[in-house]
Amino acid sequence: MIKKRVGVLISGSGSNMHALVKASRIVDYRAEIVCVVSNKPEAGGLKIAQDEGIATHVVNHKNYSTREAFDAALNDYLQSQNLDLIACAGFMRIMTPVLIAPWQGRMINIHPSLLPLYKGLHTHQRAIDDGQKFGGCSVHYVTLELDGGPLIAQTQVPILKGDTAETLAARVLVEEHKLYPVALAKVAQSLGARQKTIQ
Ligand code: GAR
Repeated sequence: MIKKRVGVLISGSGSNMHALVKASRIVDYRAEIVCVVSNKPEAGGLKIAQDEGIATHVVNHKNYSTREAFDAALNDYLQSQNLDLIACAGFMRIMTPVLIAPWQGRMINIHPSLLPLYKGLHTHQRAIDDGQKFGGCSVHYVTLELDGGPLIAQTQVPILKGDTAETLAARVLVEEHKLYPVALAKVAQSLGARQKTIQ
């Protein structure tokens, strides 16, 4: 089995990226994490990746005057890595077609809500404020519509009496770390099947 080459995009602590790296070490897991890229030089996840022996790279969005220029620089780096898939893991940037179009069907994201509910930010607070019984997390393909691409996998988490955005986020994050490796494996497998069909 040839593992799919995956690049992970982060902006922060990188706990989901770490979950993917740990899963990728399992012998018959269908993907390997070949690089971790951050738009923030101070992202804590960079150190985690380095400690795991994964190549890291920073494309600092502050060095670019437009979103498109940043996205072009990031895409150039990603293209240079001979990747099959991109996994966004707490990558807190709105992406333009310059970055999304070349990876259409091969870029996925994890989002802390039960999509299509609560796209964007402050997902847990909004779910609590609306009196929802469940929050959760979703993995989806990235398309031009923010948090709007086709769903790959989802986990529900009950909202408990007295939950704050922080307590709910912490319980959802535990589920994210289980869901994302499963979803990435599923996508890697389907990509392999598609490539066989094309050949
Ligand atoms: C995760 O909860 C992820 O779902 C969320 O940011 C957190 C990153 O944590 N992503 C988004 O909100 C994307 N819109 P991590 O850096 O520890 O993986």
